Amino acid sequence: MNIDRYRSVITEKILRHSKVLEEYNILKYVPETLMFTPTESMLQKVLSRGVLRYIKAYLYEAALSYMGYALKTRQALTSLTLGSLSILRKKITYPNPYSEVYFKVNEKLLRLHETLKNVKVIKDLGGIVNYTVLAELRENSVRTVVMKKYRDWKAIKWVPTTLWIAGLVDFTPIPSERLLREIRALTTLLKHGFKVPCIYAVDWVNKVLVREYIEGLPLSNVIKEYKRTYEISYEAGKLLAEMHSRNIVFGDSRPSNIVYSNGILVPVDLEQSSTTIPASWDIAEFISFMSVDLYLKVKTILKAVENFIEGYLSVRRDKSIFHDAFKAKYIRILLPISPILPLVANHVKTLLEAKS
Ligand SMILES: Nc1ncnc2c1ncn2[C@@H]1O[C@H](COP(=O)(O)OP(=O)(O)O)[C@@H](O)[C@H]1O
Ligand SMILES: [Mg+2]
Repeated sequence: MNIDRYRSVITEKILRHSKVLEEYNILKYVPETLMFTPTESMLQKVLSRGVLRYIKAYLYEAALSYMGYALKTRQALTSLTLGSLSILRKKITYPNPYSEVYFKVNEKLLRLHETLKNVKVIKDLGGIVNYTVLAELRENSVRTVVMKKYRDWKAIKWVPTTLWIAGLVDFTPIPSERLLREIRALTTLLKHGFKVPCIYAVDWVNKVLVREYIEGLPLSNVIKEYKRTYEISYEAGKLLAEMHSRNIVFGDSRPSNIVYSNGILVPVDLEQSSTTIPASWDIAEFISFMSVDLYLKVKTILKAVENFIEGYLSVRRDKSIFHDAFKAKYIRILLPISPILPLVANHVKTLLEAKS
């Protein structure tokens, strides 16, 4: 089938149907880009919890009967026209619908789906959950990039998997949801003036994100350098407070997910960033993993935590968040990572009391 022959028919149909959607204030036509965008009021409505639940139930209901029908007709069709159908199938070419959905980064429109042909893998970056590699992107020029494939977690024994199972924190195991969370957090942080990796391309079908490579080292390494430990923990406290002031929660805030680049702390792994995770969680997770990066050396850790708190409070004067960060249920779940957490909790309590 030659899609160009039918283009005018399809366009006419799309325009006709979109008129109805415009009348109901669901879509808006943007003449400058020749595109449609969902209206603000529609998004508000759709994103409310009740409506989401309703849509889910509706989709199940609609999909179930359709699936039954599709299965029956497919069986009937294949038994009747197996040969001719396979010839037909080869000739049908159509664009992936996701490549016609766009989102805005830095005033530039990016496709939600692009077939990545011009990326060459250089080396593995050693992420635990995903397949994260350093790569080369050839477009107009050659760029060093990081390519991340969001893998399914279920098979991987990894701590946050237990977190997700425990249901304590709104972590998600679903690759498409993690990719969306990452894109949302990166674009929101960018809007607020944070330094974050720029998004270059997305392959929605294979759940791959291509983003800027940030020259530098992960905080988990830099914090080990004994001359840097306190300065870095202070800066990390500041970074988290700046994010929290904007209502952005990191989600998976371990030091290895932040890159130290020319004196600036850059968050790079935001796939768990969510509006429903409490900000105090970020603090509890950061401190737990930091204490492992500092080889569980108690004296160093306590001083690093003090600096972290100073940094945090210098931006956001909210002491209560540290009480929340060390509540029993967080300590219980993070104890296997950092056995000295109860000790840290006591120290923080004394510290905060002295401050008030
Ligand atoms: N944009 C980037 N620039 C520089 N280093 C990065 C970038 N993204 C990731 N890294 C490095 O690669 C590691 C793994 O990437 P990450 O996104 O955290 O994947 P995973 O979810 O598998 O942990 C990070 O810990 C970080 O050190
Ligand atoms: Mg990571």
